[in-house]
Amino acid sequence: MKGKVDRLMAEMTLAEKIGQLNLLPAGEGLVTGAAQATTLAQRLAAGQVGAVFGTKSLASARAMQERAIAGSRLGIPLFFAEDVIHGHRTIFPLPVALACSWDVGLIEKTAAFAAAEASAEGQHVVFSPMIDIARDPRWGRVAESPGEDPLLASRIAVAMTRGLQGPDMLAPGRVAACLKHFVAYGATQSGRDYDNASLAWEDLLGIYLPPFAAGCEAGAACVMASFNAVNKVPMHAHAPLIEGWLRGRNGFDGLVVSDYTGVKELTAHRLGPAPVAVVRALFAGIDMDMVGEDYLRELPTLAEAGIDAPEAGLALSSAAIRDLTDRACRRVLTLKERLGLLDDPFRGLGATGAAPKRQAGRKLARRAAAQSVVLLKNNAVLPLSSKARVALVGPFARDRRNMLGTWSVSGNADDVVSLDEAVAALTGKAPRTAWGVNIVEEPWLEQRLNVHGVTVEHDARSEAELIEEALAVARQADVIVVTVGEAKEHAGESSSCLSPDLPAPHHRLIAALKQTGKPVVVVVFAGRPLALGGAAEVADALLYAWHGGVAGPEGVADILFGAATPSGRLCVTLPAHPGEVPLSYAEEPTGRPYRGHFQKFLTGWLDLPDTARRYPFGFGLGYSEVRYGTPSLSVTVAAADDRVVLTVRVQNAGPREATETVQLYASDPVARITRPARFLIDFQQVTLAAGECREVSFQIDADQFRYPIAPSLEAAEWVRDPGLVQLHVGPNSRDTQSLDLTWLA
Ligand code: GLC
Repeated sequence: MKGKVDRLMAEMTLAEKIGQLNLLPAGEGLVTGAAQATTLAQRLAAGQVGAVFGTKSLASARAMQERAIAGSRLGIPLFFAEDVIHGHRTIFPLPVALACSWDVGLIEKTAAFAAAEASAEGQHVVFSPMIDIARDPRWGRVAESPGEDPLLASRIAVAMTRGLQGPDMLAPGRVAACLKHFVAYGATQSGRDYDNASLAWEDLLGIYLPPFAAGCEAGAACVMASFNAVNKVPMHAHAPLIEGWLRGRNGFDGLVVSDYTGVKELTAHRLGPAPVAVVRALFAGIDMDMVGEDYLRELPTLAEAGIDAPEAGLALSSAAIRDLTDRACRRVLTLKERLGLLDDPFRGLGATGAAPKRQAGRKLARRAAAQSVVLLKNNAVLPLSSKARVALVGPFARDRRNMLGTWSVSGNADDVVSLDEAVAALTGKAPRTAWGVNIVEEPWLEQRLNVHGVTVEHDARSEAELIEEALAVARQADVIVVTVGEAKEHAGESSSCLSPDLPAPHHRLIAALKQTGKPVVVVVFAGRPLALGGAAEVADALLYAWHGGVAGPEGVADILFGAATPSGRLCVTLPAHPGEVPLSYAEEPTGRPYRGHFQKFLTGWLDLPDTARRYPFGFGLGYSEVRYGTPSLSVTVAAADDRVVLTVRVQNAGPREATETVQLYASDPVARITRPARFLIDFQQVTLAAGECREVSFQIDADQFRYPIAPSLEAAEWVRDPGLVQLHVGPNSRDTQSLDLTWLA
């Protein structure tokens, strides 16, 4: 018996099929009657919309659904989507911050909570998780990313997909996930947003594609294409990667949506005018056209006349274009069927959508914020005594707006408890606060940051006056907590910056405070990894707090005063100098290996003496000393199908409970091509009471040592060589103990 999708496909006209490929923003919603009817209202009435994103309420979604069904001869409903990047109404820490928790269980919980809030407002799909590997902090979207490592990012992709979709996407409180942005958006040239990526196929297969493979494996229902080109082919026209790798090699059977006007932008990529762009995108496997309406405008003619554009190297018959239109429409309808909308067009739009308890969300957000904070330095200053007289200084001391971070579209800054209030609530003593310095010096930059709504407050006094005010407060205190970093829209989309480092005035403020002779605790609020420069030396304690979401300041206060112990570990490398980006811990060896400091005729920079100021991937401190015993292997020579066990004892020498992320890296001393000097192959988190000792074991098999050799994408093969490999276990990517293991052929 034919299914619903087959029956609809058999009955639909070409125009109705094309209408399903149109993905529109809710924008101002439905404005009709006395006011000029909105385009959206007209499109709905004409059955020319497949889905809408950005509705702001259940009522507006329901009204649009009614219009869509009335406008569709066969009563085909919309699906609704929203950008829920790190929470919906309850905003969790930025994804790059959450990734520093290395706690995939926590990440899954935050995704599940976000799904419950979004689905309660009629969302069926969320444009999340963003799983672009990011190794260039100039690129603002590192803020939304899971960091620099493919294994950690892959585990996060799975956790987010499971959290959003659950075991059954149809269950109440669940939504469809949309993996984005496919692919290598983070490898953009010079860190410039929307620019192109040229990279070895081996890097694409070994670094940027694994999180998408993992997300698909976890059952993600959708994928969104990225704006960039990969190796000269814009992703919205990249048939080898979308239809070839994603669907063909990787078996993805869901829906692929364009990014915002991504189809239209193929013309700007100079692939040809709109008809060419449309056919290239449809052929590549882009099923829905977000915002640009090029499918809607061009397909009726193309499906009748075909295309013959020799200047674009493109010729396709009308029949072939009709087949591609059918293919895309079938995928849209199949998603709607999977979402239960063909059985119940108002599924998820009823008033029954009980939103989860906000208090529970806030508690989870506070826990997530504390776990996302990374303690980089502590000269026995932290945790602070609740009796200490604290001076809280700097532009984030009383801030709410910036704490939500970028892509917090449905959050409300008024829900944020600022750091001064959080400290007062926790300790019973209100800290004395002072502005100290502005977030940015340049008024033109301030205006640009405010383009997404006011996030940057400015104190009009001179820097000297601001610093003097801060010093006056600091002199009355036992300890100074100085807050520095970036505004929320300093990082995010269309927020690439030339120099990812702390602004000079922030350095001057820290130095001035240090002159008081009081302990100085530096807390960095940022959306990207910053080169901290001399601030790291001057600080007596240093916390990287990111933009921690609605409970970000409370999470920081919990860490400052020991209500929570720091367990965050960097998911990115903090550069020693902004000029050394892009970078990661997994750099390839060269013929003249870099030794971490400049040496003539070796890899390195003349003007960078050393990387002492670099904080490595996986690094983070706690409030206890955690000691590692000598690791051991179950065998040192293994057959290819053996399972080898690496064991290491980890002891919490106290004085407090500690959560340790034991990290296992590997190296391949001899391979057929250059490979990363070391790469993460596993990690485990253990929580140890003071004095507790635990054996941590890792199961290792030969497959973890496979690597791609790819003269082309199509000719790629994953190989594994027999012989010696090295294993490195420890608290981060730098401070490890090594073991040799030999794999037999
Ligand atoms: C934006 C982003 C994408 C987002 C989409 C819809 O340009 O690139 O991540 O999901 O548009 O808002």
